[in-house]
Formats: sequence, structure tokens, C-alpha cells
Amino acid sequence: MRKKEVKHLISIDQLSTQEIDNLIKVANNIITNPNKYKEKCNGKILATLFFEPSTRTRLSFESAMLRLGGNVLGFSEASSSSTAKGESVADTIKVVSGYADIIVMRHPKEGAPLVACHNSDIPIINAGDGGHNHPTQTLTDLLTIHREKGRLNNLVIGLCGDLKFGRTVHSLISAMSKYENIKFILISPEELQLPEYIKKDILEKNEIEYIETNDILEYMSKLDILYMTRVQKERFFNEADYIRLKDYYILDSNKLGKAKEDLCIMHPLPRVNEISTSVDNDPRAKYFIQAKYGVYIRMALILKLLEVE
Ligand code: NCD
Repeated sequence: MRKKEVKHLISIDQLSTQEIDNLIKVANNIITNPNKYKEKCNGKILATLFFEPSTRTRLSFESAMLRLGGNVLGFSEASSSSTAKGESVADTIKVVSGYADIIVMRHPKEGAPLVACHNSDIPIINAGDGGHNHPTQTLTDLLTIHREKGRLNNLVIGLCGDLKFGRTVHSLISAMSKYENIKFILISPEELQLPEYIKKDILEKNEIEYIETNDILEYMSKLDILYMTRVQKERFFNEADYIRLKDYYILDSNKLGKAKEDLCIMHPLPRVNEISTSVDNDPRAKYFIQAKYGVYIRMALILKLLEVE
């Protein structure tokens, strides 16, 4: 008998728009009927292997599994795992795949989740690999955009901050490029511009319109979405560069003066200084509800990968 194919989520482009739309549909259904889902994963175990810091991604996955009636185990820092003794990712995964039914992992090395899925006979979910990808943050972002704007097409999306190292930006661009009539305004200092490979392989290849600027105000009045990001301190080689760039953008109420009334302000969080807390009370600020939506879309994803009806 042929071995059953195991489903993993390593990169967002593994999902078609139809699969994404289905996940959004299930997440919306969970929001309306949570009770229908509370025993769906009885007896199942989710392992969270976090080799890098996290608050939202790890806890929202744990919350998602617990709300589905399943259980969770894992570690939240590499130093408390056998990685500190020199164990390879491949070996850790081979072992944990005997302890759980599904694994969520975050790792500082780009490509580590790909190595993991070659060594696992249970589903692996990439919860962030270095400055590369973060597909489940993107699913969270897509659910947020869908709920807050009512559509995933016909949008002008401003992405602001660290577009070079920000993995959430890379995955979001990849996903949104599959929808109709999307325009990107890429707002960053020159040193933190979007990597060339993403411009070429995704934007130019799919003929997606984009503009690069370092001025957050220049296109403010045109934006439907403003996606702010933190300068990714942990990816810098040089502390002086980080200090010089970290407060390059600080979004405050004055800067929103010309913005649309139905602008949707998003941020994957954690926020450092890039959005003033005075913006939090603006009805256009959606970043805390965005974090909450992360639980429901992750519930939908767990159900899909575990093939629970
Ligand atoms: C993001 C990440 O880890 O890439 N955080 C998250 O998962 N919500 C963004 C960030 O750390 O800046």
C-alpha cells in the first residue's frame, strides 16, 4: 500500500486562492458557532517547537488546539531543548513526530521547516523561518482583510517599515498577488527595501503594480490597507544600523490626516515604536483584533491539515 501523503504548510504559495477562501469560510464559521468545533480534535496533540521568541503565534496555536478539544506540548526557547546540546532539527522532528499529531515550528534559519517536513510523518506548520516566510501570519492577515474590508481584491496596500527582513511582508505579498487588482505601495528606507527576488519572482512575474517610496505620507490618501512592521532587530548584523533605522517611521494621528475613513491599519505585532499608542483608539486601528483572528484561522488550518471534517 502507498504511504498516505502528509500535508504540511511551509510557504503560503502552497495554498490556492480556493483553499485560502475555504479556510476563511471555516474560520468565519468558527467565529459564529464555536461550540460546533469544541470537540473536533479530542485526543489529538499539537507540538509547538519554538527555537525563536514568540507571543502571538505560539499562544494562538495553543489556544486554537485547546479550543478544538485537543492538547498541546512543546518548548518556547531553543535553550530549553536538546538543540542546546547540539541536536539537529531533523533528529528533533523525528522524535517529536512520535509524540504528537501535528507540529508547529519557528526557527531562525530560513528553510529549517523544509528540512523538518522531510523528516516527519505528521504535518509541519512553518510559524516563521528567519527573514523568509510566515504563512500563518498571512492567513491571519487575509482573514482580517476579508472581515474588515469585505474583499481580498481591488485593494491598494501600503506596506511600511522593514520590508527586507520582515517575513510577514514577504508571505503577504505572495498571497495577495494571487488576487485581482492589487496594488502595493512599498514604504521603507532604502536599506530596508523589499528583496529583489520578491520584486522579480512575484511582483514583476505576475504583473502586479507597485511603487517604492520612503515617504509614508506620499500615498497615504490612496491606501485601503496600511500594514506597519517593526524593524527586525534580530536580523541586523550591526547594532548601529538598527539604532539609526528603528524609529524611521512612527505612525501617529497627524500622519493619518489625509487617510481614507475606511483605511484598515494592520500590524503583525509586536509593536515597538512604529505606531504611536494614540492611534490605538482610532476605529481604523485593527491590529489587536487581527491578533485575535489568528486563533480562528489557525483552528481552521489545524482541521484542514489533520483532515478533520
Ligand atoms: C512577526 C514575526 O514573528 O515575524 N510576529 C508575529 O508572528 N506576529 C512580526 C515581528 O516579529 O515583527
